Amino acid sequence: MYNDNPTIKFDDKNIDESKQGDAFFQEQVANKAKDSDKKFYIESYGCQMNFSDSEIVASILGDAGYSATRNMEESDLILINTCSIREKAEDTVRKRLRVFDKVKKKKSSTLVGVLGCMAERLKQKLLEEERLVDLVVGPDAYRDLPNLIAGAEDGDKGINVFLSRDETYANINPVRLGSNGVTAFVTITRGCDNMCSFCVVPFTRGRERSRDPFSIAAECTDLFNNGYREVTLLGQNVDSYKWDNPDTEQKCDFSDLLALTAAISPDLRIRFSTSHPKDITDKVMYTMAAHENICNYIHLPVQAGNSEVLKRMNRTYDREWYIDKVKRIYEIIPDCAISSDMIAGFCGETEEQHLETLSVMEIAKYSMSYMFFYSERPNTLAQKKYADDIPLDIKKRRLSEIIHLQNKISKAHNAANVGNIYKVLIEKESKKSADDLAGRTTHNKMCVFPREDAEIGTYVYVKITSSTSATLMGHLVSEEAFLNQ
Ligand code: SAH
Ligand code: SF4
Ligand code: F3S
Repeated sequence: MYNDNPTIKFDDKNIDESKQGDAFFQEQVANKAKDSDKKFYIESYGCQMNFSDSEIVASILGDAGYSATRNMEESDLILINTCSIREKAEDTVRKRLRVFDKVKKKKSSTLVGVLGCMAERLKQKLLEEERLVDLVVGPDAYRDLPNLIAGAEDGDKGINVFLSRDETYANINPVRLGSNGVTAFVTITRGCDNMCSFCVVPFTRGRERSRDPFSIAAECTDLFNNGYREVTLLGQNVDSYKWDNPDTEQKCDFSDLLALTAAISPDLRIRFSTSHPKDITDKVMYTMAAHENICNYIHLPVQAGNSEVLKRMNRTYDREWYIDKVKRIYEIIPDCAISSDMIAGFCGETEEQHLETLSVMEIAKYSMSYMFFYSERPNTLAQKKYADDIPLDIKKRRLSEIIHLQNKISKAHNAANVGNIYKVLIEKESKKSADDLAGRTTHNKMCVFPREDAEIGTYVYVKITSSTSATLMGHLVSEEAFLNQ
């Protein structure tokens, strides 16, 4: 779910992905912002939740009379939605701020705003360090943006980094930025109550809170009615989703929410991210198994394969617990793909402990993984308690071993799909050839095939004929062939 090579929203390089959704987005923002000619430009970095938040920001700004532009030079307001997860993520943001400085020097009325996790982490310090930044707004304060902008137009620097216990932006209808018009992300929880010792998220996103299930179902239904065919329910730990209605004693846990959204239409695919190994339940797995339109794919980050390291990471499960969870998933949903996140070179990690990360990868047979080396973050538990004592070259070597092994496992995972027929939701034209289309299988694997007369946004059946470690290749077959395989 994390993107270390952030997509720059409204950058022309990315337009190709988004023709349909883009029109939808432009129309939505244009409708909202009829009475004004003020323009904003936004870039997003970090996890999918940040991208989702930018869609909330776009909606709030649309209501305040701003329309979007892809051209930062012509904008009145440049926003950057930031990530603090690793040092590199923050370095990237600082580099972008240097570029915005240049624009601002040419046109001094342009306002520059820093949103998201870096705004929350650095607060006032960001205004002191970055003299040309006008606004610093944390993830729970986006409703205050119009106010803060008005103040900044009068020359007052604006800051709001208040973290809320109940803000879920439930009643805001996000404007789908740079979307393909087929797949969308819907936030179901905000914040995180876990305290993984390496992680900055609890500090930048605050306490966990769950969004009203009816507003989630309404948003998904609206997406479906607008042609979307897949939603990914988002949260730092979706399995701890929990909503109680004090008036009616109605309760909704994550598996209930899955069932609720899956019932919208059999033609609406449901995905979710991220699952925490300590919280995913049998009930969730049985709900997945019972609904064809809930995809057979679970992102279940392990972080490390050794129990002592996991303890220092404060992940609250050990190696055996994790392996048992994986076994349980394969028992209840035999045809499930599992992916993971791994951190190489956490504080005090020995060579033997690193080898246990490699062995857990082999046992879990991940279809893919996001892999990082440990980056110490200020004020986290790990920073306070443990020395960041693994030299960078060793962290990098261990990471490259992890990546190398994952490539091998992914290659075998994909090769095992050759000869099978999969139901694929078509998302876009293939990047390599306009004659080919691309979409994903239930396992979240990208699949490329000759277009014939298939259309983006529809389901097709594809027989897989070859594969690489990243992609499946095949050709269209009939539904009958799929059912009879
Ligand atoms: N809530 C998700 C993860 C969110 S952060 C979960 O619990 O799995 C995404 C990933 O970034 C994490 O899974 C972890 O692998 C990585 N990460 C977080 N903090 C990090 C750090 N300080 N250094 C390196 N990687 C980190
Ligand atoms: Fe960070 Fe852990 Fe929360 Fe994930 S579960 S966001 S890694 S603290
Ligand atoms: Fe996401 Fe980065 Fe914040 S991973 S929650 S944007 S620190």
